[in-house]
Amino acid sequence: MAEIIRAENSGFCFGVKQAIEKTEQQIYNNKDKKIYTCGPLIHNQFVIDHLASQGVGIIYEPEQAHRGDVVIVRSHGETKRFFDDAAKRGLEVVDATCPFVNKIHQLVYEAHKQGKKIVIVGDRAHPEVTGINGWCDNTALIVNSKEEADAIMGENLFLVCQTTIKKELLDEIIQVVKSKNMEMEINNTICNATKERQESCEQLSKKVEAMVIVGGKNSSNTRKLYEISKKNCNNSFFIENIKDLPLKQLRKCNKIGVAAGASTPECVIKEVIANMSEMITNEKNSMEDFMDEIDASLRLPRTGEIVDGK
Ligand code: F3S
Repeated sequence: MAEIIRAENSGFCFGVKQAIEKTEQQIYNNKDKKIYTCGPLIHNQFVIDHLASQGVGIIYEPEQAHRGDVVIVRSHGETKRFFDDAAKRGLEVVDATCPFVNKIHQLVYEAHKQGKKIVIVGDRAHPEVTGINGWCDNTALIVNSKEEADAIMGENLFLVCQTTIKKELLDEIIQVVKSKNMEMEINNTICNATKERQESCEQLSKKVEAMVIVGGKNSSNTRKLYEISKKNCNNSFFIENIKDLPLKQLRKCNKIGVAAGASTPECVIKEVIANMSEMITNEKNSMEDFMDEIDASLRLPRTGEIVDGK
């Protein structure tokens, strides 16, 4: 049986856990109310389908809900305008913004009020970055590479980061800023949960013959784990659930690592770990039976088999 090793830090982070718990509380307490999340609660289809089955809908703007409806703000956070509009519309807002993201909103809001120019390091299409930008009236300069950092100019600069970016990207951008002799207040707002998951995945990927990375295909933090793993372990596989396990490739391996993104539910990880070894063994056996059948039909000896008279 193959040895399966789980990465030390994997699965739901603090912020995602809190968002799920707050949503479950609402489902339980507000059976007579319409409940929405603003955007999909997390990047995991399994969870989204489960919430949909409980009657939780998805909206993107306060105008899509009605007075008295419950709207849950996910861990990525929202713009200030969203909260203002939701209050005007009479929506019952449940704020599940991750406290680490909330801290960035407050930093940006105060710095913007003091006339500082906000720089965000991150992916401009990511909802967390859109949300942060909304706390400085969408005036931030957003950079996601050292090439883009060349466009940074001016005075009184105030930098924050999307919580899930790699530290190397921030270091590269700081180098560009230093080379231009610009003064900038740098706030490293990268979240430790991401760093811990990336480090655990990296360490494990150096010790095993194959890595299975579990998470939603649209989860950027899971994809990053896969990229990190692939650098050290050629046999790295990105799967959403147990049905995607590449059994044929895995049956050749004796030591398999499992890592999971911050938005991957514990039950999905446990299902993969609990069943993988058995599924690989069954696959191995069925492959061996299959080979035996072929050999028999071709009347070929299997390796090491002595055939009478020869
Ligand atoms: Fe929060 Fe970090 Fe998770 S910012 S949502 S604890 S990845």
